[in-house]
Amino acid sequence: REEEAWRLALDFFGGDELRAGVFLNRYALRDEEGRLLEATPEELWQRLARGVARVERGAEGEVLRLLGDFRFVPGGRILFGLGNWRRSTLFNCYFIPIREDSVRGIARFLEEAMRTFAYGGGVGTNADVLRPQGAKVGNAGVESSGAVSFLELFSTLAGVMGASGGRRGALMLTFSDTHPDLPAFIEAKTDPERRRIRHANLSVRVTDAFLEAALEDAPWTLSFTTPREEIRKTVRAREVWQALVEAAWKSAEPGLLFWDRIRTWATAQYGGLEVQGVNVCGEVPMEPYGACNLGSLNLAAFVQAPFTPKARLDFAALEEAAMGAVRFLDAIVDLGKTRHPLRAQRVASLRSRRIGLGVMGLADALAMLGLPYGSDEALALAEEALRRIKEAAYWESARLAKGKGPFPAFDPRAHLQSPFIQALPEPLLLQVEKGLRNAALLSIAPTGSISLLAGVTSGIEPIFALTYLRHAGGQVYLAEHPLLKRYRQAGGKDLPDWPTAHQVDPFRRVRLQAVLQRHVDQSISSTVNLPRETPKETVEKLFLAAWKEGCKGITVFREGSREEVIEPLPPLG
Ligand code: CDP
Repeated sequence: REEEAWRLALDFFGGDELRAGVFLNRYALRDEEGRLLEATPEELWQRLARGVARVERGAEGEVLRLLGDFRFVPGGRILFGLGNWRRSTLFNCYFIPIREDSVRGIARFLEEAMRTFAYGGGVGTNADVLRPQGAKVGNAGVESSGAVSFLELFSTLAGVMGASGGRRGALMLTFSDTHPDLPAFIEAKTDPERRRIRHANLSVRVTDAFLEAALEDAPWTLSFTTPREEIRKTVRAREVWQALVEAAWKSAEPGLLFWDRIRTWATAQYGGLEVQGVNVCGEVPMEPYGACNLGSLNLAAFVQAPFTPKARLDFAALEEAAMGAVRFLDAIVDLGKTRHPLRAQRVASLRSRRIGLGVMGLADALAMLGLPYGSDEALALAEEALRRIKEAAYWESARLAKGKGPFPAFDPRAHLQSPFIQALPEPLLLQVEKGLRNAALLSIAPTGSISLLAGVTSGIEPIFALTYLRHAGGQVYLAEHPLLKRYRQAGGKDLPDWPTAHQVDPFRRVRLQAVLQRHVDQSISSTVNLPRETPKETVEKLFLAAWKEGCKGITVFREGSREEVIEPLPPLG
């Protein structure tokens, strides 16, 4: 059966072993003995359509059309979990707070995170809740080893849970820019071997005040108050900032979260939905115990007459799919409500009905349209696509609210305070005022595994390489971007000159992210790739550009700063 499934899957994917492998190893349904019950994505799509039809009677046909050809790909947890007998969540993203700075608070977080990992969910938390190094603990005389000393423990936990549960536990640890241990947090992963805190991402929640102080070389106060003391340190903001830039240059972390932008532009900042942290890759800022399910429209699947002078993006089809995707993800909120690892997550999810619709395959779509990634035309096209997705999604959420009721925490006056909402066109705003089904709707995820499955470039990233060496199972393979095959099928003969990651000006990537952020109510996960020889000053300039241009966060990855997974090669003839 396994061999037969491989044959059918390879046939479906036109011989692409990587895609067939992702499908069979990660997403195809298996029985309790581990035998494959699905051999092609068509069977997966049918399982999903039947699943959604449990809450949306008669929706099967519509869902099948939406999923077909990978036009819309639900997040990995949905692909794996919907209609599966296994215990797992349908939500990729959770934010779990450490609720108090105490042994009890830490133990409780560990338990809640473990349960969430065990269900396949990713966890973000704020580690700056814990007191700094040297603060008094318990009885007089004992000093805390500090917030940063717990990071390794949290990270190891994520790694261990991965070893037992199939999917590695993914963890995000963030820190405020006023915690006295901030300098230690910044350096936490810069050890030469890059072996520390290997199973967690680190990000600093930077405020405008901090960045302004850094630019003005002003003093900056780090402080923390416990019931028995106040710890204060004054430092030079610029020194801390430069250490941050250096660490990111050296080891790709920490990333930055522009916290004021995240909070002021968030949609529902009221009624307990106020943003306090983020999920693993940062694309979903959330309230405590918040949960988000994800799904991505594959922009490449909406290009008509690809690689020809007549190539165009079918905006009408894209809008229709965005509406279908909102209905799909909203149905998952109900279908997944009994499958959250924690009761508090179920309560939070049903209160906000938060969903995260995004895109992937932007780079592929641009290549098909003949627009160089990073060019003005490419930016304009991408913005138009995201604007239309945003508006279609909001129309649909308003329509759903009419039929089924708005999300329980909805407050029209408070909702209209968000500058993001205020920027919606007038007729849509009138509908939004009457109710929205979802507190937040949009998010651009890394699409790590689902983009492999669909055979497109992840999220809004540029094409990394057209051909590369892939390491798998101790072997090295020569792999090719699926786009090359599509190009040849369309009659392409000469070598295409699509710009790849290292050829795209990194400042144009920041600009693209900032432009698209205007149309995404949550956030965007994106990593700017930089060549090895990039100077520190460039990293600093990129960070400041991202802040000034309106990104909600940024991460950079300089070649060689961490283990490399793939090696680009020059294109083959
Ligand atoms: O492609 P897929 O749906 O598997 O996930 P993704 O788009 O790469 O990641 C989206 C989110 O899923 C991340 O931001 C994490 O919150 C979560 N995730 C996780 O928990 N564990 C992983 N190994 C990968 C992603």
